[in-house]
Amino acid sequence: MCGIVGVIGTNVAAPILYEALRRLEYRGYDSAGIATLVNGHIERRRAEGKLVNLGAALERAPLSGTTGIGHTRWATHGAPTEGNAHPHGTSLVSIVHNGIIENHAELRAELEAEGSVFSTETDTETVAQLVDRNLRAGMAPREAAHAALGRLHGAYAIAMIFAGHAELMIGARHGAPLVVGFGEDEMFLGSDSLALSPLTRRIAYLRDGDWVVVSRTGAEMFDPEGNPVPFEIRQTALAGGSIGKDGYRHYMDKELHEHPLVIGQTLRRMIDPATRRVVMPPLPFDLAAIPRATITACGSAFYAGLLGRHWLESEARLPVDVDVASELRYRDAPLSAGGLALLISQSGETADTLAALRALRAGGQHVLSVLNVPESSMARDSDMVLETVAGPEICVASTKAFTAQLSVLACLAIATGRARGTLSAEREQVLVQALLDLPGKAAELFDLRADIQHVAAIVADARDVLYLGRGAYFPVALEGALKLKEISYIHAEAYAAGEMKHGPIALIDRSVPVVAIAPSGRLFGKTASNLQEARARGGRLIAFTDAEGAAGLRGIAEALVVLPEADPFTAPILHSIAVQMLAYEVALLKGTDVDQPRNLAKSVTVE
Ligand code: F6R
Repeated sequence: MCGIVGVIGTNVAAPILYEALRRLEYRGYDSAGIATLVNGHIERRRAEGKLVNLGAALERAPLSGTTGIGHTRWATHGAPTEGNAHPHGTSLVSIVHNGIIENHAELRAELEAEGSVFSTETDTETVAQLVDRNLRAGMAPREAAHAALGRLHGAYAIAMIFAGHAELMIGARHGAPLVVGFGEDEMFLGSDSLALSPLTRRIAYLRDGDWVVVSRTGAEMFDPEGNPVPFEIRQTALAGGSIGKDGYRHYMDKELHEHPLVIGQTLRRMIDPATRRVVMPPLPFDLAAIPRATITACGSAFYAGLLGRHWLESEARLPVDVDVASELRYRDAPLSAGGLALLISQSGETADTLAALRALRAGGQHVLSVLNVPESSMARDSDMVLETVAGPEICVASTKAFTAQLSVLACLAIATGRARGTLSAEREQVLVQALLDLPGKAAELFDLRADIQHVAAIVADARDVLYLGRGAYFPVALEGALKLKEISYIHAEAYAAGEMKHGPIALIDRSVPVVAIAPSGRLFGKTASNLQEARARGGRLIAFTDAEGAAGLRGIAEALVVLPEADPFTAPILHSIAVQMLAYEVALLKGTDVDQPRNLAKSVTVE
């Protein structure tokens, strides 16, 4: 959701900024731009579309200068044109911004009335024009920026440079992430530590509302009133080389293949191999005393929450509510005193989830978050974080982070069941064994590629696809349908299989394939009957199942993908990977931009 970066150093800034933008491109790819100070003057290059277009512009007209800022954009206000691409500014100041300035129209009217001449439709230019006006009124850059920041409403992370001030960069954070990187004789600003990881691993995080004045040798941080605030420089764990494609054609393919590793790494944090028991970090509240849990998240993370509910209810007998964060935050839902708020997010920055977290905290809930970025905003606002050890996820569509979330939630359900006395030691051993078997079984899924490709050929020709699943497989169906929509642009809907006859069955004919997630188990017979109903109406059925389920589905389904046998507790995790693999194969057939699908961005820091 827009990536920003800044550097002050001794080397030419533009190539450093461009490389950092490559690492931020997952946050938006509508347009990109870089501005540097060249002999005290602000110069910039911008390009519509993917970052490579900016690369070509820089090749045609290179930028010198050792101080600069860069931006990769996911458009909010103004079309994704070169003219609306960041940086924005005047001859005195240049700005990159992630977020939305909510009062931009009012500020613009005020500035225009005073004679400021705007050249874009963006909310960001308002910030630049405000700073410009303050500079022209005789303020020094630091004062001009501080005064302008005090006028802004909304969510933003900002970096700015000033004509004539080669060793100055000012950054601000309010509801969107910004980090400061400390190098050797060079300093950086960035949307996240991943962007800066090959440049420096020494990072300081701005608190929400604070702003920072950066020179070539250090930084000073201030609160909104302008009082200095102390900060800590931390060593980040991110390895510089961790975002390569490693020979894979797409990040998505690489990240799908990382499933066994990521699940294993995540489980290692939560399972003691000697005792084969789940070990939770010490919690600042008593799991046994929790009356109720409220799970909230967005997108795929929400589907992980639906499966989390299934496990918490069945293994821990804990009452659980689940809702998408964008609804929950405005619903004024009654909460149980001392309840548990369980937030799930890959990025830890999703605006709606963060706002829901704050609302739940204000409602007296203990806040436990399942996050992939331990330094994120949500981590800082949580009582405790359970980390998914998925590593950087670069493909915009989530894959490995989703199954890492599921792995953590499964462990949490076991720990909660133990604490509440609903789970016997024997049952815990069975469930832990099932989890420990997962990485090996996930690796076996790649042997199914030919079968999944066969199914993909059926799905790729369709305009609409229906995904069906029951119980723990309904969230898997939702995940499969979302992934297909996101990366192949084929319309897909997921229904709880029993709901099909209440409406969606009207859609079924030869042109609408039905993808069922239907392994053997308690609800298999029910799902199989629903599939018979679809078949009787001429539907083309595809089923993801196991060997026992396959025996019951032959003759009903046109194509089967038979997954390895797994305990019913963990089988939904394996099926999630399989439906993600299907979406990938369909996208390959459709020739779409798998890693950067149109209109999407990762880490959605606007509402
Ligand atoms: C789907 C996807 C999104 C995210 C959602 C939440 O493939 O990636 O639906 O799951 O935007 O993002 P996080 O987990 O960062 O809060």
